[in-house]
Amino acid sequence: MDVYRVRGGARLSGSVSVAGAKNSALKLMAAALLASGRTRLENVPQILDVTIMTEVLRRLGCVVSADGDVLEIDVPEQTTTETDYQLVRRMRAAVAVLGPLVARFGHAKVALPGGDAIGARGLDMHIDGLQRLGADVRLEHGYLIATASRLRGAEVTFDFPSVGATENVLMASVLADGETVIDNAAREPEIVDLVDMLRSMGAVIEGEGTSTLHVQGTDGLRATVHRTVPDRIVAGTWAIGAAMTRGDVRVRDARADHVERVLQRLADMGADLSTYDDGFRVQMDARPTAHDIVTLPYPGFPTDLQPMAIALNAIADGHSILTENVFEGRFMFVNELIRLGAHITIDGHHCSIHGTERFSSAPVEATDIRAGAGLVMAALVADGVTEVGHVHHIDRGYPGFEEQLRALGATIERVTVPQADPSE
Ligand code: UD1
Repeated sequence: MDVYRVRGGARLSGSVSVAGAKNSALKLMAAALLASGRTRLENVPQILDVTIMTEVLRRLGCVVSADGDVLEIDVPEQTTTETDYQLVRRMRAAVAVLGPLVARFGHAKVALPGGDAIGARGLDMHIDGLQRLGADVRLEHGYLIATASRLRGAEVTFDFPSVGATENVLMASVLADGETVIDNAAREPEIVDLVDMLRSMGAVIEGEGTSTLHVQGTDGLRATVHRTVPDRIVAGTWAIGAAMTRGDVRVRDARADHVERVLQRLADMGADLSTYDDGFRVQMDARPTAHDIVTLPYPGFPTDLQPMAIALNAIADGHSILTENVFEGRFMFVNELIRLGAHITIDGHHCSIHGTERFSSAPVEATDIRAGAGLVMAALVADGVTEVGHVHHIDRGYPGFEEQLRALGATIERVTVPQADPSE
């Protein structure tokens, strides 16, 4: 098992560049399946999840080549249409191939992801949406099997603006017969990015960034060239890291407007902010002031930054409540933070936080990507050396994390240690 050893006390300062968004790139890769020929994706982050999605596409029969942050995906006239459990269990986002496969080839067989570290995360809205478009969707032997001779446009109204369901139904509807209206659609910048790419492939879509998407189905799409939107969650992680360590960080190649709510909260807590065309700067000179935070679908405060927000409030001056509205069960990492000396109690989807001036180092374990990044940020403000275990989770979403942290002044090393068997 690889661990990070982080010596607390550093103030993050300097400049850091943000790569393309993981949560966009994975769906753009799936969208490439909608047309035969070679699609070129630029600004793709070099992370484990992209490697897993590359494997998903290769097993379907695509030829995928990577050169730095450029990915070329050559899609044949006919691919296979099955994605097995071994891949989907490693990365849930692999279910994004469901919509494109059934729309283009009339058949998709994709394993159900199963257990997940952050809440139930059902697929009911993905399934209902595809059924509304006329697909027959059934579950057999742990696989979702979707079939349709030709999807037909329909009205799809989601109970909740699910990002993944919006993407799957959107990617299916672009090849459906007639008009589809997706209501209560997700408004995340990653959806807007996907719409931009689909449009450049020839799709006819209106309303991206709002709650209602109108799609006119077409008979076929063409391969394209597309540049991935910057990763707002990575950008937000650096912003919060700067505030936590009373640092001064200039975040480049990012979109300040995509983290507006996050920057507003940091300003409420005492940070000085500047925004630029290519990003922003966060400076914090004093101890942050505690502030309540509520996670919500975009443009609300992102759930993916909730662990960092809890860690920040846990060293802030005062008491705060963090309310999680997107994923139940996403407070698991709180127990790890408590090991570092945080004063936190959980009541349902609320987290009550009494700020303490500093953490004190202890061995802790990352439970998912964002919890991992949150723990590393917490370790930066802990006395002594904190060992953060299971850092493979962080590899899924943060390209060059330790190098970037070191460049900002952190003392961090990655070490391989033998993994203890808890049953012994
Ligand atoms: C995506 C992001 C994830 C982010 C989340 C919310 C990717 C790869 N992941 O996840 O990082 O935290 O958006 O911004 O892009 N739900 C259902 N039924 C469904 C679909 C969702 O009950 O059919 C529920 C989920 O359990 C969850 C909530 O809806 O409670 C939000 O899920 P969703 O927006 O779909 O998130 P993902 O697309 O899985």
